[in-house]
Amino acid sequence: MGTHFRFHRARPGSGRLGRHPRRHPQELPTCGDQRVTQLPETPVAPTRTVDAVTVTGVDKTFDTRSGQVDALTGIDLTVSAGEFISLIGPSGCGKSTLMRLIADLDQPTAGTVTVFGKSAKQARLDQDYGIAFQQAGLLPWRTVAANVGLPLELHGASGRDRTARVGELLDMVGLSDFADRYPDQLSGGMQQRVAIARALAEKPDLLLMDEPFGALDEMTRERMQTELLRICAETGAAVVFVTHSIPEAVYLSDRVVVMSPRPGRIQEIVPMGLNRDPAHAEALREERAFFDGVTAVREALHTGSPVPTGARGVENR
Ligand SMILES: Nc1ncnc2c1ncn2[C@@H]1O[C@H](COP(=O)(O)OP(=O)(O)O)[C@@H](O)[C@H]1O
Ligand SMILES: [Mg+2]
Repeated sequence: MGTHFRFHRARPGSGRLGRHPRRHPQELPTCGDQRVTQLPETPVAPTRTVDAVTVTGVDKTFDTRSGQVDALTGIDLTVSAGEFISLIGPSGCGKSTLMRLIADLDQPTAGTVTVFGKSAKQARLDQDYGIAFQQAGLLPWRTVAANVGLPLELHGASGRDRTARVGELLDMVGLSDFADRYPDQLSGGMQQRVAIARALAEKPDLLLMDEPFGALDEMTRERMQTELLRICAETGAAVVFVTHSIPEAVYLSDRVVVMSPRPGRIQEIVPMGLNRDPAHAEALREERAFFDGVTAVREALHTGSPVPTGARGVENR
């Protein structure tokens, strides 16, 4: 992709919110078994200065055979338009549960979630965000190009626009030579890159990403991180990103939300304040401020679980 960077992270007036309503939402794959089956209720006028996500007083309890599991308790979090937030914490602290509540794949036991000022359900129906979760969730009968182009196809993009955009996206994730392959002909990491390309297809104003780079080798992972920052700068998208990697969280985020388990709560929110100009993206990994961020997040994690060399389930790489 090009080398011209436009740095305007918080650009809430841009992108999907102002577009025409989506068509055929029932065909769009979601990350779980849930599919959109209804058309939107009353259309909501776009409010462009509104926060991307607000989570207010959210608790989530699961009823299981062996009793109740308090997955989340007292979660309050606001993600501004254009802001990059990472959720980090030991396995089982409720990161995926929180993502699923934001994506309306599950409902809170108490509290409220809004996305661009709408209910989570309405935002899902309006497809206000792109999703890339741990499992790629590709359609096995569609080629790589047809999977990436699916959101564009569903929303009426012309064949020519679609081909151009799919080419651009595949180039970005390094899969241009695999456009005509099927998902089962790709490695897990490659499938995940297809899913990420699909999530980015329509330059959404919000991306929900749950360990999207976990299956990638380190070099691809770093490239994808840099690309993600560039895309966010270009589109002004807000991102809620789950990761096990402290450096990944620090590198990508405006704020790192450190969570603690049993029940899952927000332990601390660590602001990063790093220079996120994409032209500076590679240099950032070598800078003192980056390492200071890593230390700050590691210390916040250890406050929650006093383990000498790293909280369980969290990587220092
Ligand atoms: N559908 C479910 N039914 C019962 N318990 C669940 C369910 N989903 C998650 N949990 C429990 O909620 C807690 C948080 O899980 P999860 O959000 O997946 O954690 P994380 O993503 O941080 O590893 C865990 O104790 C997990 O076992
Ligand atoms: Mg998880």
